[in-house]
Amino acid sequence: MSNIKKIKDEYLDKLNNELSLESVNQIRTELFGKNGVVSNEFKKLSSIHSEERKKFASELNFIKEEFQQIISKKIQYIEIKEINSKLENEKVDITLPERSFNQGKIHPVSQVIDEISSIFSEIGFSVEEGPDVENEHNNFTALNTPSNHPARDMHDTFYLDNDKEFLLRTHTSPVQVRTMLKGKPPFKIIAPGRTYRSDSDQTHAPMFHQVEGLHIDKEINMGNLKGCLNYFIKEFFEVDKIKMRFRPSHFPFTEPSAEVDIGYEIKDEKIIIGEGDKWLEILGCGMVHPNVLKNVKVDPKKYQGYAFGIGIDRLAMLKYGINDLRAFFETDYRWLNHHGFDPLDVPSSYRGLSR
Ligand code: DAH
Repeated sequence: MSNIKKIKDEYLDKLNNELSLESVNQIRTELFGKNGVVSNEFKKLSSIHSEERKKFASELNFIKEEFQQIISKKIQYIEIKEINSKLENEKVDITLPERSFNQGKIHPVSQVIDEISSIFSEIGFSVEEGPDVENEHNNFTALNTPSNHPARDMHDTFYLDNDKEFLLRTHTSPVQVRTMLKGKPPFKIIAPGRTYRSDSDQTHAPMFHQVEGLHIDKEINMGNLKGCLNYFIKEFFEVDKIKMRFRPSHFPFTEPSAEVDIGYEIKDEKIIIGEGDKWLEILGCGMVHPNVLKNVKVDPKKYQGYAFGIGIDRLAMLKYGINDLRAFFETDYRWLNHHGFDPLDVPSSYRGLSR
């Protein structure tokens, strides 16, 4: 039996079996690889007499083509079989109802805190935090509000023990104390967070939010305070000009102290910030009292600066046209869906603060 016939019989036999893709490829290499049996037959061609060579070459080419056809059919068959078995086993039932998908919303208060942090970080303020449970020293005494001071009564404090040593902080001002005690001047921080007072009606909730600001350095004056607040209010309300009024006031921890009003008017039942002749109080501020600086071991002869405290909920209501403060804290999902913000819509001064 000629060699070619032997190869043909042996490999036709092999290819007749049920084969995997790997085995087919293996057979292909055995036949046509560098040292494949057919390749080796081709190498013999040069040493054969010319009359026989022609016949041998055409036989060789014939079986080469035959095998190639069989192999490519075999591969096609295996691939189709694989696809069919996938179709059989990985059926998707398109009549099933879809899985429910809920995208949450960012609460307007969280959104406004992000907006405020973004605005102040543009002018060099960093963000500090303090605990909701404070001691009376940080909340009052260190802030120049001794125990007999009438301001303590005005704060309607939730005390946590009979000795009145621990309380729910009534404002974010104790973060001033914590920040200055743990570092060295200069200080330039804001501190947003929850605050508590025993008070509740349409415009007051027992839990509400404030943001504290503090800037202490060697040459800080009231002009800096005014410039900073002016910038903040314009950025926050996204308007080019605002009307702002400093009204003399009193806080134990600042001297002089002021309350700041912004001008507004109502047009078509909408509030327009920066125009009109109505005034709205939005924050308290002043130059940090020397006693406060002494209490936190900062020399008031070398350092001074300003502080301010802003009611966050009030700002959120104004900016987003929400007229009942209590809705903020009722956890009504329909309300939140309507007034909430897209989680991917992170406020920044570059991309815009709000939609
Ligand atoms: N802590 C004050 C309050 O809750 C607000 C305030 C006023 C904060 C003046 C300040 C400030 O830092 O300088 O009523």
